[in-house]
Amino acid sequence: MNNSIIFLLLSLVACSSVVYGVQYLHMEPYANSDCKGEIYGAGYALQIDLCFGINYQGGAFVNNFKVSLDDSGQNATVSQFKDTDTSCSTPNTNFDKVYNVGECYEAPGYGNSDDYEPTNFVLISIQNNPHSIPTYGYRSTTYGDSQCMSNPQFYIFYTNNTEFNIHSDDYSKWYCVDNQAYETFCEQGEGTESCFTNPSSSECTRNFLQWHEDNYIQESC
Ligand SMILES: *[C@@H]1O[C@H](CO)[C@@H](O)[C@H](O)[C@H]1NC(C)=O
Ligand SMILES: *[C@@H]1O[C@H](CO)[C@@H](O)[C@H](O)[C@H]1NC(C)=O
Repeated sequence: MNNSIIFLLLSLVACSSVVYGVQYLHMEPYANSDCKGEIYGAGYALQIDLCFGINYQGGAFVNNFKVSLDDSGQNATVSQFKDTDTSCSTPNTNFDKVYNVGECYEAPGYGNSDDYEPTNFVLISIQNNPHSIPTYGYRSTTYGDSQCMSNPQFYIFYTNNTEFNIHSDDYSKWYCVDNQAYETFCEQGEGTESCFTNPSSSECTRNFLQWHEDNYIQESC
């Protein structure tokens, strides 16, 4: 076999865990309530027709989520299920949220911790077979496989230099330099400000907060 055939075979093996035909409910973040102008803040992508866990309130709680798209392809319904209901069989009552394609909503806060409550807005679209995810300031991605190679189930992202106000005066800023994500946290003292920066990227690791779901999580740009 010549080299190009070997390369092709290896590429097929490498790609075989990625299933095509997946769709995402994509929420593009905007600073303004008309979803025009500056792209800024927390955005989300949720795989459609799949049951997966999202933890919230800083990981204190987990719910399973499932997004379904109506026949028109214009209305996506996000339903929530108990943490133990890993096949998404019995929806929690009053937890359905409908998002219409092309419309603008307050950012939902899926997967955010209490400290990082988003204040931005999101524009709704449906993305087919996304092949590459752009570089953001930070991205936390959930996978169903231990190599984090399959199609993401869910991800939350912050655009570069997204800031969150914490306890009114303190703030936290998320950004990416040379493909490494960082968080700078700044605390206000008596007329002083002290800041420290930590890397926020991480390897693919089992998300033990989602015990029932057997999910893996990777943090990146
Ligand atoms: C989508 O849902 C809204 C209500 O949330 C409804 O008014 C609208 O007609 C629906 N659109 C389609 C195409 O089903
Ligand atoms: C993100 O922001 C950081 C800090 O301001 C900057 O150094 C970096 O170049 C920015 N990245 C992109 C892709 O714009």
